[in-house]
Amino acid sequence: MNIAVITGASSGMGEEFAKQLSSDRFAHIGGPFDEIWLLARSKDKLDSLVNALGKDHFRAVPCDLTDKASVESFAALLSSEKPTVGLLINSAGMGKNGPFLSQSVEETDQAVTLNCRALSEVTRIVLPYMTPKGENATKKDRPRIINIASSAGFLPQPGFAIYAATKSFVISFSRALNVELKEKNITVTCVCPGPCETNFIKVSKSDPNATFTGFKSKFVTTVDKLIPASLRAAGKGKSMLVFGLGQKFLHLASKIVPTNWILFFERKMV
Ligand SMILES: NC(=O)c1ccc[n+]([C@@H]2O[C@H](COP(=O)([O-])OP(=O)(O)OC[C@H]3O[C@@H](n4cnc5c(N)ncnc54)[C@H](OP(=O)(O)O)[C@@H]3O)[C@@H](O)[C@H]2O)c1
Repeated sequence: MNIAVITGASSGMGEEFAKQLSSDRFAHIGGPFDEIWLLARSKDKLDSLVNALGKDHFRAVPCDLTDKASVESFAALLSSEKPTVGLLINSAGMGKNGPFLSQSVEETDQAVTLNCRALSEVTRIVLPYMTPKGENATKKDRPRIINIASSAGFLPQPGFAIYAATKSFVISFSRALNVELKEKNITVTCVCPGPCETNFIKVSKSDPNATFTGFKSKFVTTVDKLIPASLRAAGKGKSMLVFGLGQKFLHLASKIVPTNWILFFERKMV
């Protein structure tokens, strides 16, 4: 059985990955898949997504990735089913907006644990099941990993300090892992989006009506644009996708402009 695993599948980008993979358009990236496993905490949301997309090909795997026992039960499921995993998408992530000192230890802990520890732990658990399809496997048949980072990871972000730091981790980890896994014919694509219309901003501001404000509001994208581009980048084996012109500019600036200058302008523009 060849499967895809998507974390953060109950909403936003993860949910859109599941929808896009249900169409023939992208089913070849690491596929075709006998099943697509959807991980998140919200069992009811996963169940309705599975019902909408098809019970034969989608499986809800309710899981709190910040909880050790829950992660172990996912590992046990893999161990009992012994599938091959053609595609792993690490999309689960969160961050709390606001000054560092306004956040509780629990809030910062949750972001660090989910964005860094869980992402690397899920990757560690899944990797032994990512085996290329036989001796005659072509480039196209390579197993693939997509890690969702963020343009927030390019630079420190006052007011979003812990989140930005966790996304720097994701970028660094993904790029190093991509090189390490070359000899195993597995590619890692690190996706760096800017602001995107999902539940993310609502969770980060603890406000169900929250939207992006300030200069970020000028660069908001949507999952129906971002996710196909991410799957195409993974299909081509790209190590990194910086999505959107504004984010590409920020990425370039982060490499050539002194960080203090960018932070100064960032402060002025917020
Ligand atoms: N939207 C943006 O502006 C933006 C920009 C750049 C990068 N990103 C990154 O994109 C990724 C996807 O976020 P999104 O925009 O799709 O946000 P979202 O709509 O809030 O989705 C986050 C997903 O993570 C899951 N999740 C949260 N805590 C979890 C936990 N403890 N265990 C398991 N799953 C958990 C959520 O499901 P449950 O609540 O059901 O567990 C949900 O499915 C994240 O890594 C985020 O950092 C977002």
